[in-house]
Amino acid sequence: MRLRTRAGIGAAATGLATIMLATSASAAPSPGAPGVGDPYYPGAGNGGYDVAHYDIRLTYQPTTDKLSGQTTILATAKQDLSTFNLDFGLKVSSVRVNNSLAQFSNDPKDPSELVVRPAKPIARNTPLTIVVSYADTPSTVKIDGFTAWKRTPDGGLAVDEPAASEWWFPANDHPTDKATYDVSVEVPNGSSAISNGRLIRKTQQRPGWTRWNWRSTQPQTTYLAFIAVGKFEVLESTTPSGQPFLSAYDPALGELLPAAKASIERTPEVTEFLATQFGPYPFEAQGGVASNGLGFALENQTRSVYGNSFWRWGSNTSVVSHEVAHQWFGDSVSLGKWSDIWLNEGFASYAEFLWSENIGEGTADELAQYMYDSYPADHPIWQTVVADPGADKQFDAAVYDRGALAVHALRKAVGDEDFFTILKTWQVEKKGTHATIPEFIALAEKISGKQLDELFNVWIYSKGKPAASPNGAAPV
Ligand code: ARG
Ligand code: ZN
Repeated sequence: MRLRTRAGIGAAATGLATIMLATSASAAPSPGAPGVGDPYYPGAGNGGYDVAHYDIRLTYQPTTDKLSGQTTILATAKQDLSTFNLDFGLKVSSVRVNNSLAQFSNDPKDPSELVVRPAKPIARNTPLTIVVSYADTPSTVKIDGFTAWKRTPDGGLAVDEPAASEWWFPANDHPTDKATYDVSVEVPNGSSAISNGRLIRKTQQRPGWTRWNWRSTQPQTTYLAFIAVGKFEVLESTTPSGQPFLSAYDPALGELLPAAKASIERTPEVTEFLATQFGPYPFEAQGGVASNGLGFALENQTRSVYGNSFWRWGSNTSVVSHEVAHQWFGDSVSLGKWSDIWLNEGFASYAEFLWSENIGEGTADELAQYMYDSYPADHPIWQTVVADPGADKQFDAAVYDRGALAVHALRKAVGDEDFFTILKTWQVEKKGTHATIPEFIALAEKISGKQLDELFNVWIYSKGKPAASPNGAAPV
């Protein structure tokens, strides 16, 4: 996928047209589209197949930043395929499709599109087993001038949004194609390789190296799959609900380390609280990673990764509540398209209000009022349309703050009982899949019995500071 530009639009449109031809006529096999047609990232994902499972088996050497190994993809063809694409930027040495060697090439116009031509066309609805072998130095691989691979003094991490997989495994990189994962990473003894889900085994099979095997059994999107390699301090425990909890701390955090631990170690408590608000926790494990090599936090499924900036002033369970809330909003219920980012960030930011109220640091009413009042009407935050902020403003403060105020406005409009019923019903109905903003609004209207067009128009579909605060009062 292309990250920073929309230059792929023409290519994606051609691909979609090809799909339509292929399904309407029972004609010759045709190429799978190079993208799923996402409005912000036309090259994201690929057409023509659906992935069920990724088996990622790698070796990483921190001293050289060399990553090598194989990814085996279990998929099903969704059309008669002559060729198909994988989103991937690293150097490939071979591709096998259903055990036969396939031809492959990188699209010269987009180095993140690997085009694969199987020895024989693939028939619709038949299984696809794709084995990609590769080796590269991911921190040096630039796509549109950017690498999502962060190298640290003793390791590296593949952690980013909307895309990180291009720098460590070939994928159908769009949240609409979720899969289960086995991630196995061999690193030098003394280093840790952390990923999602449960740590199912740690073995030494050759001198000097340890292999870490991880498993995610719930559907997971590609950008929420991660690896973090470093000389971490790893803590393991069992949550009161009986789930495995694993956290990893980069000792390079130094004096920030206690604050990081005092926050991330409370993840099970935060999870238990949010389960009372959103319904049962959707996954099989919990945890967190405190990195010193990152400038943001990301809600990687079951194990969020936190940059070092969050602990500067002491513990910060607010950011933990934000990332844990994403396990429901973003991870279990994922985006149907990236322009619907409010469904992730608005609700995760609102969870910070809920958590704050729970620990006695201010009620949701107080925090919403304060946030609304603190942005003057001429502040740029009011100039972003939260329901479609644009690719370059996807993580704008407006999506987070105005986004959270929009959620509070809904709560005030429908009342607490209907509000929490809406959130819980949404989680049940969309668990493990993806959804759109209009679907959320339709559910809110159905449960509340109220017409909510005006409310959503004011809060997420238009620019300008809303005349009344989410609590209902006009500004003073
Ligand atoms: N979803 C992340 C969060 O919880 C934001 C990630 C922003 N991505 C980035 N590359 N800065 O807020
Ligand atoms: Zn977030």
